[in-house]
Amino acid sequence: MGHRLKTLGEFIIEHQSQFRFSEGELSRLLNSIKLAAKLVNHEVNKAGLVDILGASGVTNIQGETQQKLDIFANDVFMKILKKRDIVCGVASEEEDDFVIISDKDGGHDNKYVILTDPLDGSSNIDVNVSVGTIFSIYRRVSPVGSPVTSDDFLQKGIEQVAAGYVIYGTSTMLVYTTGHGVNGFTLNPALGTWYLSHPNMTFPKGGKIYSINEGNYVHFPQGVKDYLKYCQEEEGNRPYTSRYIGSLVSDFHRNMIKGGIYIYPTSSKVPQGKLRLLYECNPMSFLAEQAGGKASDGYRRILEIEPKELHQRIPFFVGSREMVEKAEEYMAKYPDDAVY
Ligand code: AHG
Ligand code: MN
Ligand code: MN
Repeated sequence: MGHRLKTLGEFIIEHQSQFRFSEGELSRLLNSIKLAAKLVNHEVNKAGLVDILGASGVTNIQGETQQKLDIFANDVFMKILKKRDIVCGVASEEEDDFVIISDKDGGHDNKYVILTDPLDGSSNIDVNVSVGTIFSIYRRVSPVGSPVTSDDFLQKGIEQVAAGYVIYGTSTMLVYTTGHGVNGFTLNPALGTWYLSHPNMTFPKGGKIYSINEGNYVHFPQGVKDYLKYCQEEEGNRPYTSRYIGSLVSDFHRNMIKGGIYIYPTSSKVPQGKLRLLYECNPMSFLAEQAGGKASDGYRRILEIEPKELHQRIPFFVGSREMVEKAEEYMAKYPDDAVY
C-alpha cells in the first residue's frame, strides 16, 4: 500500500528511448490509440442502451443514425489518426483498401503506418461479452514525402515496430509491445487514466486451455482433429480445459494469463482460415512471442510470412510455446494441408 501506480503516459515516456526510430512520433501514436480506445470503450459500455436511447430520440439529435459498433470504432480510429497528423496511412478491416493520410500541410512526411481491426469479436456485443481492438504499427518503406503505397502495409510481421490490443472486458485494458516485452494497462474509467497493472506479461509454463470453435470439427484438417484428441486424452496434465469466447482478443488475453492455445484452422468452410494475417494474426503473434509464447499457421512462423494482400486470411495457432509446438507436431504429419 501507499505505492503509486505508474500511468501509461509515464511508462511511454520512460521507455521511449528503447525505441529504435523516432521516439517522439511513436509516443504520439500510442497516445492517439489511448484516446481512441477510451472513446470506443465509452460506446461499448453503453451498447445495451442503444435501443432505449434510440427510442427516446437521443441518437437523432445530431441527425445521426445509430451505427453498428464496428463502424463506430473504425470511424473513431480513422478520425483520430487523420486529425493528429502522425501516421501516413491506415489499413482497417472495415476499409476495402488502405487509406492514404496527408499531413496538415498536405505533405506525406509521417513515417508510420497502422493496421487495425477496430472491433474484434463484434458478434459478442449483443450479448454483453468482451470484445477488443487490435493494432499493428510499421515504419513505412516507401520514401518519406510521397504518398504511402501497398508495400508499406504488406510487410512481414517481423518488421512490426509496435503492436497491441485493447480488451473491453470486465475492466478495460490496453496491452502492447514495442519489442521489449509485453505490458498491460488497466483503465480507471472515472479518471480516464491507464495504469500499469500487468508489467512484463508472460505465458505461464504448462498451459492447459485450448480454444477453438469445435462446432466446425468435422470440417477440420486431420492434424487438428488428432491434436484435439490429444488435448482430450486422460494422460499427465490432460485432459485440457476447453474455453472459447469467440473474440480472438479475449481468448488470447485469457490464454496469455492462464496458459493456453487458440486455434483457428483451415476448414472445408474457410479453406484459407478465417483470421486476417495483417491486422489480427501478425499483431497477436508479435505479442505472443514477446510474452514467451509462439504463433504459427500450423507449419510456419506467422511473423515470417510474406503478405500478398491486405485482407489475406491465414490459419492461426497461437499461445503457450509448448502447446503450439505440440499442435505443429500433429500438423507436420499432414504436410499437404499447409495453405502455402
Ligand atoms: P471480427 O469480429 O473482427 O470479425 O473477428 C471475429 C473473429 C475472432 O475474433 C474470433 O475468434 C472468430 O472470429 C470467431 O469465429 P467463429 O464464430 O467462426 O468461431
Ligand atoms: Mn477480428
Ligand atoms: Mn472486426
